[in-house]
Amino acid sequence: MITLAIESSCDDTAAAVLDLNLSHRHRVLSNVVSSQFDIHARFGGIVPELASRCHIEAIWPVVHEALADAGVSLQDIDLITATQGPGLVGSLLVGFTFAKAVALVRQIPCTGVDHLAGHLLAILLEKEEQRPAFPYTALVVSGGNTSLFAVNNPTDFRLLGRTRDDAAGEAFDKVAKLLNLGYPGGPTVSKLAQQGDAKTIHFPRSWLGEKSLDFSFSGLKTSVANYVNQCQQKKIPLPIEDICASFEQAVIDVLVKKTLLAAEQVGHQQVVIGGGVAANSKLRKQLKGSCAEAGLGCFTPSPEYCTDNAAMIGLAGFFQFTAGSTVDPDTDAFSRSPLN
Ligand code: KG4
Repeated sequence: MITLAIESSCDDTAAAVLDLNLSHRHRVLSNVVSSQFDIHARFGGIVPELASRCHIEAIWPVVHEALADAGVSLQDIDLITATQGPGLVGSLLVGFTFAKAVALVRQIPCTGVDHLAGHLLAILLEKEEQRPAFPYTALVVSGGNTSLFAVNNPTDFRLLGRTRDDAAGEAFDKVAKLLNLGYPGGPTVSKLAQQGDAKTIHFPRSWLGEKSLDFSFSGLKTSVANYVNQCQQKKIPLPIEDICASFEQAVIDVLVKKTLLAAEQVGHQQVVIGGGVAANSKLRKQLKGSCAEAGLGCFTPSPEYCTDNAAMIGLAGFFQFTAGSTVDPDTDAFSRSPLN
């Protein structure tokens, strides 16, 4: 089934064309992402109204490029799928309405995908030998979410734990803002962390109880803010690299430990990560190391499938279609995920 997928939940306009079938021999024919980083960078974060206007300008050129890269036209598309939520409603509406309109004109089925389902299944875009079998434990760690799920099959996900305040990516972005490192903060913080010593500053790890699978990162962010304030009051130069390394390690320690705890609690042998923060090389390395020690399989999608992309939405939308779920032209977008 030639599937056109669209993702516009936040600040990336993305489109992909996939050749999908029930024998799980998926092929990503194209995967185009148009980022709005430059537009939002000067505001230090995403401006929702600007984001939706940019999506309107970008949607057709991005879809056009994805079709051209795949060597197909709209006439060849059998299924169209788009992110229905969660995210910024104005942004979501651009991609979702575009998809519904194409489906209506072409008289083809359309599915609306939960963005989180995309991240949970992104690992299945990898080559067969790099994919886990069901069931598996998945950590979705992005700018808007930090949640653990039991993934039982392509359409059955059970929430195991989630953040009670900031998402891990949000914490990276806020710490970057404190240190004047620009937006988005994750990649810059992690790059600077490579030149720092993670043992120099002890930032707190929030465990929320021995068996809890929930997360909390707002205390960590406040602790970094307090440290920065103290340095400024004492007129000590900020050890930026050490702050980045120590902060990054505090986030990773919690993510890794709770992911392994989740797998143990549900009795899964395989662990998967997804979402923008899953592109962090230290997190990937340390999760792999801890999984190996615990005798668990660890599966990490390539970075292009960690950050927001439409290929993962295409796969999730295809599974939804095969499970019998399609949307009507009057189906609305949603800002909060029913999965979370
Ligand atoms: O999944 P994503 O592209 O968008 C959503 O939030 O849905 O994730 C973006 C988040 C941002 O907070 C960004 O700072 C973070 O992922 N991020 C990283 C890295 N790359 C992106 N955080 C830590 N290390 C990275 N290498």
